[in-house]
Amino acid sequence: MTKHKTSQPIGIFDSGIGGLTVAQAIVQHLPNEDIIYFGDTAHLPYGDKSAATIQAYSVKIAHMLLQQQCKLIMIACNSASTAAYELIKEYVGSKAIVMNVVDPTVQLLREKYAHKHIGLIGTRQTVNSNVYKKKIDDLNRGIQLTSHPTNLLASAIEEFGNNGVTDSLVEEYLSHHTLQNVDALVLACTHYPVVKKKIANYFKKRIEIIDPSETVAKAVKTRLEQENLLNTNENSTKRFYVSDYTESFAAGTKIFFDEEIKLEHYPLWD
Ligand code: DGL
Repeated sequence: MTKHKTSQPIGIFDSGIGGLTVAQAIVQHLPNEDIIYFGDTAHLPYGDKSAATIQAYSVKIAHMLLQQQCKLIMIACNSASTAAYELIKEYVGSKAIVMNVVDPTVQLLREKYAHKHIGLIGTRQTVNSNVYKKKIDDLNRGIQLTSHPTNLLASAIEEFGNNGVTDSLVEEYLSHHTLQNVDALVLACTHYPVVKKKIANYFKKRIEIIDPSETVAKAVKTRLEQENLLNTNENSTKRFYVSDYTESFAAGTKIFFDEEIKLEHYPLWD
């Protein structure tokens, strides 16, 4: 691994607003780190695109984050994590640490949910990739996984946040018969924590809703500690880039961070 400096930023990317749930948790756990966030709003949603297309976008974003000298790149998107993690790791090589949102979540299931019936909702890409299923089966912990694609939910959250439109989608998707007898439900799309309360209410708080953002943030902290790369800078900075400036993204950033956030337009594809 190339020798990195503690002062280098952490790069975080997603198709849009979703990765901000992870970014927020990372900022809480690692307040001294500089953060560079990239939302690929020009290509949202990722979840319905082919793995090859998501890979092409992800590599471009990883390239941009490397140019920004990131010491660690967090793929804060399940669709990109399941489609492009191995490729990005290869592309980045020793220039930065690459992490995804799947492995910390699987690790959490291994530690706390042995012999449970776990439901999982995510985009079509995340569910159809079977990446969660394979990794969970490999644990040999007797975890039964039932995955259900909730295709329109991320785009609706991006557009409307928490309102009647997302209420109806949550009800429609969660009423699927395969999800009725699970012990816990994994929110395997970084957009979904925005409507976590709605999801918990749908199940009348009978089951546990697993929002992986905290777990992912702790995994980033542990990794930086292991590599001696924790920043101690008191005046950390955050920069937010979008490939297409949208009002919904600008409004969305306000849900997550109290301070005024300046969005920078970074058109990767011009
Ligand atoms: N938030 C992303 C995920 O975790 C993707 C949503 C989308 O763009 O389809 O899967």
